[in-house]
Amino acid sequence: MTPQHEYHCNVLIIGSGAAGLSLALQLAEHVKVLVLSKGPLREGSTLYAQGGIAAVFDENDSIASHVNDTLIAGAGLCNETAVQYTAEHARQAMQWLIDQGVPFDQYKDIDGSLKYHLTREGGHSHRRILHAADATGKAVQITLVDQVKQHPNIQILENYNAIDLINGSKLGLDPQRCYGAYVWNKTQAKVETIKAHFVALATGGASKVYLYTSNPDVASGDGIAMAWRAGCRIANMEFNQFHPTSLYHPDAPNFLITEALRGEGAYLRRPDGSRFMPEFDERAELAPRDIVARAIDYEMKRLGANCVYLDISHQPKDFIIEHFPTIYAKCLSVGIDISRQPIPVVPAAHYTCGGVVTNLNGQTDLSNLYAIGEVAYTGLHGANRMASNSLLECVVFAQAAAKHILSQRDVCSRYADIAPWDESRVSNSDEEIVITHNWHELRLFMWDYVGIVRTNKRLERALHRVELLQSEIQDYYSNFRLSHNLLELRNLVQVAELIIRCAMARKESRGLHYNLDYPELLSNAEPTLLTPQPAQ
Ligand code: FAD
Ligand code: SIN
Repeated sequence: MTPQHEYHCNVLIIGSGAAGLSLALQLAEHVKVLVLSKGPLREGSTLYAQGGIAAVFDENDSIASHVNDTLIAGAGLCNETAVQYTAEHARQAMQWLIDQGVPFDQYKDIDGSLKYHLTREGGHSHRRILHAADATGKAVQITLVDQVKQHPNIQILENYNAIDLINGSKLGLDPQRCYGAYVWNKTQAKVETIKAHFVALATGGASKVYLYTSNPDVASGDGIAMAWRAGCRIANMEFNQFHPTSLYHPDAPNFLITEALRGEGAYLRRPDGSRFMPEFDERAELAPRDIVARAIDYEMKRLGANCVYLDISHQPKDFIIEHFPTIYAKCLSVGIDISRQPIPVVPAAHYTCGGVVTNLNGQTDLSNLYAIGEVAYTGLHGANRMASNSLLECVVFAQAAAKHILSQRDVCSRYADIAPWDESRVSNSDEEIVITHNWHELRLFMWDYVGIVRTNKRLERALHRVELLQSEIQDYYSNFRLSHNLLELRNLVQVAELIIRCAMARKESRGLHYNLDYPELLSNAEPTLLTPQPAQ
């Protein structure tokens, strides 16, 4: 057998979005970092973020108000300490991004000074969103990628898919520590081992478990599934956020229409042109996302409509093009002139509010394993994430994790002895169709049974189906050689099971979780915590 390639590093960071790259840059002055990305370095949800990042910059705004708005959006389920911590560190985190070179939009005030332009989104009681036109994520990602590529202490492995974390229980070592990861080198189609003193999961969310999603392909919940298999608790997976407005057009799947459009006055309309949001909530189009998405879902089902419409055509054309150049151009490319016509929109799975349980240092249940960004459950978002709080969470908790890792680095011991991956008992797959079929089936029933509106019966049906898929996929995984699609499907099925189990455990409707059999809110708000069995 040819020896397998092995890497060594102080810190292995799995994921290269806002969370992973911010962490890498904050550590690299002091330690050797290895960053892994499943596809090209820039690919991930961060690249596609439109609206912006929330932070208190306006003198009439306050941290107390940011905290209060976040708590209201989170429907009683936020961890107040995490919310306070995030809001307090927001300005400093944004300053760090600005120092890296992120070009947030500015304007000249009447006194001639330059000020950051702040936009508004649902749930925010003030203009609080720093942005780079309507392509904020691209500005952040490109800036961070440039910085990381120049840093001599950062090694980058692109097109590498982390398969599993290696915790001590498999090595006869401390079961509460992580010693590295097995990774799939996609280009050479082989497994390699990475040994590390610290590991950080920054793998993003899991919205690809749903048929319709605003997320890019990499969002298959790998970090959540890996952490669960390694023995970490997972929380609040029932709270998957559906963004109310993604473009409904066959030639532009997954394309988001930012909430900032509603922040700048766009109306939601039925196919007959009438507005409907004022009938659902006094905040109308600027109600929190769960309310807007449910209202759209209700109207579409009631009317048998394929979509509803978002209309900003009453604003001046110059204003629209200046503030929303990407959306203007994208819609025009499929024949919709948003300065004259309403935009057909539908809800799409957008954000995973739950995830791997962490403390305020980003530490998981394994002492040297961290989780930051969308993969993590810090308690910030509660039952519903407020718009533009997630990129903020990526940067704030990257800073916290970096600080904690650096404070711990003296306790690092030598690298563990890790057995190479054993491929001797598997053969080439003869039935790739099993993967594509199961993939489609999973995403379809998650959309139909575990989507915006749930019932006990739908959840039971979904659980039954997911258990069947799990045993089929496990069988496939044990007998055939790995492939990228198989690895993602294995993780998606795991994440689907966690979502369904969390949804079944919640006997109420709160925030993003709406169950027709339990429409009421319980008086005590508790997160849903799942603990893996030791054998896993
Ligand atoms: P990502 O940016 O998704 O990066 C994940 C990384 O992990 C990728 O590099 C991927 O390759 C890697 N990865 C995953 N699995 C593996 C594996 N097994 N092995 C190796 N690498 C792996 N939030 C806001 O705050 N404001 C917004 O305006 C906003 N707009 C949005 C618009 C869209 C269309 C979308 C999809 C999201 C938006 N969000 C917004 C949410 C926000 O973009 C994400 O929550 C955030 O970017 C997540 O960053 P991250 O670093 O955690 O993950
Ligand atoms: C958007 O621009 O509407 C997305 C904002 C977010 O998801 O935070």
